Amino acid sequence: MSEPIIRLEDVSRVYDTGKVLVPALVDVDLTIDPGEFVAIIGPSGSGKTTMMNILGCLDRPTGGRYILDGTPVEELDDDGLAAVRNRSIGFVFQSYNLLPRTSALENVATPLAYQGVGRRERLARAQAVLEALGLGDRLHHQPTELSGGQQQRVGIARALVTEPALLLADEPTGNLDSRAGAEVIELFRRLHASGRTIVLITHDPDVAAAAERQVHIRDGRIAA
Ligand SMILES: Nc1ncnc2c1ncn2[C@@H]1O[C@H](COP(=O)(O)OP(=O)(O)OP(=O)(O)O)[C@@H](O)[C@H]1O
Ligand SMILES: [Mg+2]
Repeated sequence: MSEPIIRLEDVSRVYDTGKVLVPALVDVDLTIDPGEFVAIIGPSGSGKTTMMNILGCLDRPTGGRYILDGTPVEELDDDGLAAVRNRSIGFVFQSYNLLPRTSALENVATPLAYQGVGRRERLARAQAVLEALGLGDRLHHQPTELSGGQQQRVGIARALVTEPALLLADEPTGNLDSRAGAEVIELFRRLHASGRTIVLITHDPDVAAAAERQVHIRDGRIAA
């Protein structure tokens, strides 16, 4: 058996506002194995963004352990956390977060610059991923010259270009109409079929239904 990509053991996250303590995650246990496609679904305020921030190493648990791709996160300092984030996770955002006035190709190549990959190889790898996602004829278009669905596919290409262990998507269809949203979901299914590990966070049952496993979160707890 291979090591899980994600292991949360008794994880909690309590926010301290100075006036009150808000338990946003409570005693969460969750294991995600390589190749799984998991949707984390819950209503507003249930703890989805808190969970996303912890899974993505943007925030730390206040209790329990998080082991990401074999690395216990609590043993890392902030630089170590950033390093494991860059190496292990490809993020897909609701609002795409593409660099404006920058071509699709340059957008997708950018994460490789942080890994010290040379420019020629960066562009070649970015082009290959964009072509694989059906955007070979849009390489030199800027975000404003692309449809929402195309922008999100550029966002997914950027997340994939570093070959991360985990693709972590936060409401990836939230800004898209139903047809473009369905195309993005179909793309996730295709990536899953090719062996990618995907965690998708959503409040939308139709989106969650595309995943192989659904994890329901309510009031900071995983529902049985
Ligand atoms: N920085 C913070 N300080 C204090 N409380 C917070 C903070 N961030 C979130 N919370 C609280 O933690 C709980 C979970 O919030 P979270 O943002 O994770 O929910 P969510 O599931 O993402 O909701 P939504 O679907 O509305 O985005 C909520 O009760 C929220 O009010
Ligand atoms: Mg949220």
